[in-house]
Amino acid sequence: MSQTPDLLVKDLHVSVEGKEILKGLSLEINKGEVHALMGPNGSGKSTFANTLMGHAKYEVTKGDILFKGESILEMETDERARAGLFMAFQYPVAIPGLTFASFLRAAINARIAPSLGEDGKAPTKKGIPPKEFRDLMRSKMAMLKMDEKMAMRYLNDGFSGGEKKRAEMLQMAMLEPAMAVLDETDSGLDIDALRTVSDGVNALMNPEMGLLLITHYQRLLNYVKPQFVHVLIDGRIVRSGGPELAIELEETGYDAMEAEMAVATA
Ligand SMILES: Nc1ncnc2c1ncn2[C@@H]1O[C@H](COP(=O)(O)OP(=O)(O)OP(=O)(O)O)[C@@H](O)[C@H]1O
Ligand SMILES: [Mg+2]
Repeated sequence: MSQTPDLLVKDLHVSVEGKEILKGLSLEINKGEVHALMGPNGSGKSTFANTLMGHAKYEVTKGDILFKGESILEMETDERARAGLFMAFQYPVAIPGLTFASFLRAAINARIAPSLGEDGKAPTKKGIPPKEFRDLMRSKMAMLKMDEKMAMRYLNDGFSGGEKKRAEMLQMAMLEPAMAVLDETDSGLDIDALRTVSDGVNALMNPEMGLLLITHYQRLLNYVKPQFVHVLIDGRIVRSGGPELAIELEETGYDAMEAEMAVATA
């Protein structure tokens, strides 16, 4: 066990447009661990993921987020990505005019660029060579059972729901993050695609990586098995447990849990 957890979230309070959404969220994720974050619509799951990546709209009013022992709150989104954080969006945006392949190449180059801007000079390294990039992309696309033609299409432009989710997984596969947050990557996938994407996630998971799965469904957790399950209600984690907690939730729903809490805090 390492003493410093990879990701340490301490009493995080986050406001969006002046409204407090996260009200004291604490969480610890170590490398090699898979965590699941569940909770009703609007409880703040995506808010947490967006805050982690440094989305400008989400204001941290209290608490801290430490990644590898250092606070990331002052870091820009691209610095966080270079540090090894990755997030797959619940609603990936389309960028007509930018091919998926160019986007991936730019993302990889940004990730491997030697700390840009330190001395104000452009990086000396030229980025990933074209052939190396193509080979890498092909092998990862094969792993995710993706049609290579997709790489030549504009990013997410006209992609089906399932294609968008696979596209997010391809980004993760190519960037090899140290900590990945997948926000409802399972939603909108048909049964076969869920299987493929889950197999892909399992193949990417390694002892040096931490993974947070945000999901509404126990189904995903049958394929990608978490050691820890957390329930977020109204901006706070109200229960944490093992995989059995997800099964319990599926049977009882959140209402029962909320009622239980109300009694406990009355
Ligand atoms: N960019 C934003 N602008 C305005 N309100 C926001 C924004 N992001 C989140 N919120 C508000 O914060 C609350 C929590 O939203 P969030 O998207 O974090 O919920 P969620 O737990 O991810 O829900 P779901 O399960 O439906 O994805 C909601 O009331 C939402 O309207
Ligand atoms: Mg959400």
